[in-house]
Amino acid sequence: MDFITFENVEREYHVGNNVIKAVDGVSFELEQGSFNVILGQSGAGKTTLLNLIGGMDSPTGGRISVNGQKISDMSEYELTEYRRTQIGFVFQFYNLVPNLTALENVQLAEEICADPLDAREILRRVGLEDRMDNFPSQLSGGEQQRVSIARALAKNPQIVLCDEPTGALDSETGRRVLRLIRDAASELGKTVIIVTHNAPIAEMAQTVLHMRDGKIAGTESHDHPKDVEEIVW
Ligand SMILES: Nc1ncnc2c1ncn2[C@@H]1O[C@H](COP(=O)(O)OP(=O)(O)OP(=O)(O)O)[C@@H](O)[C@H]1O
Ligand SMILES: [Mg+2]
Repeated sequence: MDFITFENVEREYHVGNNVIKAVDGVSFELEQGSFNVILGQSGAGKTTLLNLIGGMDSPTGGRISVNGQKISDMSEYELTEYRRTQIGFVFQFYNLVPNLTALENVQLAEEICADPLDAREILRRVGLEDRMDNFPSQLSGGEQQRVSIARALAKNPQIVLCDEPTGALDSETGRRVLRLIRDAASELGKTVIIVTHNAPIAEMAQTVLHMRDGKIAGTESHDHPKDVEEIVW
């Protein structure tokens, strides 16, 4: 059964007298537990689409359902609950709390969730068992991103959304981060959606949504997605 369904979804923004259709009549379906990429150039509408999936933004038209719930009909209160329990976010610039340690950053997720995973265990999984007591400023970019992945996974969400997760990293570190997201998500049965403008990354996805001017310009399915090691950028 389809896990995430978009039906003719629109998101308009009004700026002065102009109407910007950031997402313009988008329809697609994604399966539970799948690893997906949204690919497109700057301004294509990728972040807007991701925010709609994550309940950080609401559509101005169309229908969105996730895991049997119609999120396009939800109230603010229901959306907050949805974000809190179902969604883990990973951002380009990590968004860690600077005056909390790696462990404390991940424990934040434990505090707001009904069924969190153990923060120490998750940090071990991302290879940071020796760095738990460091502050973000004491960690490299790749290590900070691993903390932010641990934070997203510790919520034990159904869906992990990543907006340009490797955008601030060199390619080797980026590959390591992608491998981590994919391995952890597949072991834990999470549905992953990665936004990027970096075409080679799409080769490791099961489904690729190509975005252009707010629309889906094409959809690609890979029965045998590439391994991270085979990808070069
Ligand atoms: N809150 C907003 N108010 C007005 N316009 C917006 C808003 N958010 C996004 N837009 C516009 O919608 C379009 C799509 O933006 P979006 O951020 O989704 O693109 P993107 O594909 O993520 O780009 P990038 O790769 O640069 O991050 C752009 O033209 C942008 O200026
Ligand atoms: Mg963006």
